[in-house]
Amino acid sequence: MNLANYKATLSFGNGAPNIEMPVYHGTIGPDVIDIRKLYGQSGMFTYDPGFLSTAACESAITYIDGDKGELLYRGYPIEQLATDCNFMETCYLLLNGNLPNATEKHEFSHLVTQHTMVNEQMHFFLRGFRRDAHPMAVMTGLVGALSAFYHDSTDINNPEHRAISAIRLIAKMPTLVAMAYKYSIGQPHLYPRNDLSYAGNFLRMMFGNPCEDYVVNPVLERALDRIFILHADHEQNASTSTVRLCGSSGTNPFAAIAAGVACLWGPAHGGANEACLNMLGQLQAAGGLAKVGEFMEQVKDKNSGVKLMGFGHRVYKNYDPRAKLMQETCNEVLSELGLENDPLFKLAKAVEKIALEDDYFVQRKLYPNVDFYSGIVQRAIGVPVNMFTGIFALARTVGWIAQLNEMIADPEYKIGRPRQLFTGAVRRDVPPIAKR
Ligand code: CMC
Repeated sequence: MNLANYKATLSFGNGAPNIEMPVYHGTIGPDVIDIRKLYGQSGMFTYDPGFLSTAACESAITYIDGDKGELLYRGYPIEQLATDCNFMETCYLLLNGNLPNATEKHEFSHLVTQHTMVNEQMHFFLRGFRRDAHPMAVMTGLVGALSAFYHDSTDINNPEHRAISAIRLIAKMPTLVAMAYKYSIGQPHLYPRNDLSYAGNFLRMMFGNPCEDYVVNPVLERALDRIFILHADHEQNASTSTVRLCGSSGTNPFAAIAAGVACLWGPAHGGANEACLNMLGQLQAAGGLAKVGEFMEQVKDKNSGVKLMGFGHRVYKNYDPRAKLMQETCNEVLSELGLENDPLFKLAKAVEKIALEDDYFVQRKLYPNVDFYSGIVQRAIGVPVNMFTGIFALARTVGWIAQLNEMIADPEYKIGRPRQLFTGAVRRDVPPIAKR
């Protein structure tokens, strides 16, 4: 970051002296005011619950222009990456800062492939879960448990440990998600196959069985690979910030990523694709297209508690560029599978059309986000609704690791420790129990 040629001056209404604070430029995006010395100089904190105006870190990985609807990974537009690169190249880019050449791409993919199996003991750990456990509950447990199985890569301060845990996490996530799925339906787990692509291997582990060969459909393989690319990183979102905060204590990388998985589970974040598909399913059951208008009235009524899932975003105040790419993939997958007339897809399009023309959504700049169409694609591929967020976690793992490693490698990093505006009881004495 570069120091700007101007400063910010904070003045107080109580006669306290003004405070000058440095301002920094990034390469793009808003300038930031450095308030680190504010408390020391004024005895005051800033107040920003929800981080509406707070840059929590310096980062060179992902940039979002919410007004333009632009998403860049290491400077490359998501549209180009989704069209011209595969997920392995995207992982390499996020972790290393540059796209791989042909040799680097081959070596990286090979390295990931060599780490896709999990310690056999993990199967026994998995068996401790109820079969009807939510896959995200299982994933939180399995990812956290990796730290109990890979003792040689748990020192977050050791660059070699960070590098090998990064590869292990990226490689093992598809295996863990597929294990969680197979366990939930009572089918045997399939071991990974090294001759398949990252997405192809995942499709086989999810939908193959030991009794017959599984032939990977290239359209579905490409669609899944694109889902992975679109979800790979998204700047300082809630789960990434969770991973950074968790990792800032020096905990091991597997524990930090498990914290990210737990955060992603929520319906306002990664759980939105599941919530969105459930919403469309309920609307379909309630009457489908004929009831869309009535449903949209409920969404606009603040007392109804109903939100249009898959719409709106803290940063995008324009069409989420990932949603456009996802809609394209949705068309390809549905046509490949002969599902062009899928009622939920039609319903989603009708809902989107009404929302984009309705004053409520236009005024609040609410547009479809990535989750609006990703559920329809995944459902068409055969992924059950409650597995959607697990697939999001699989894809986001590389982003979490890239962000975590960026933080740890920064010599200026400190443990994250926000402060508070305290509004509770002032000091008081504990009365004897008879007088309470
Ligand atoms: N449906 C109806 N109204 C909405 C919606 C929605 N989906 N999203 C926002 N609004 C309204 C909100 O009620 C508020 O209205 P008002 O100004 O009258 O009070 C206004 O729009 C601004 O919303 P906000 O809640 O202040 O915005 P936020 O930045 O705090 O929340 C959000 C962002 C994503 C949590 C929210 O838009 C939402 O809950 N959307 C549905 C869930 C969803 O699709 N989440 C996936 C996000 S993308 C995937 C990811 O990155 O994880």
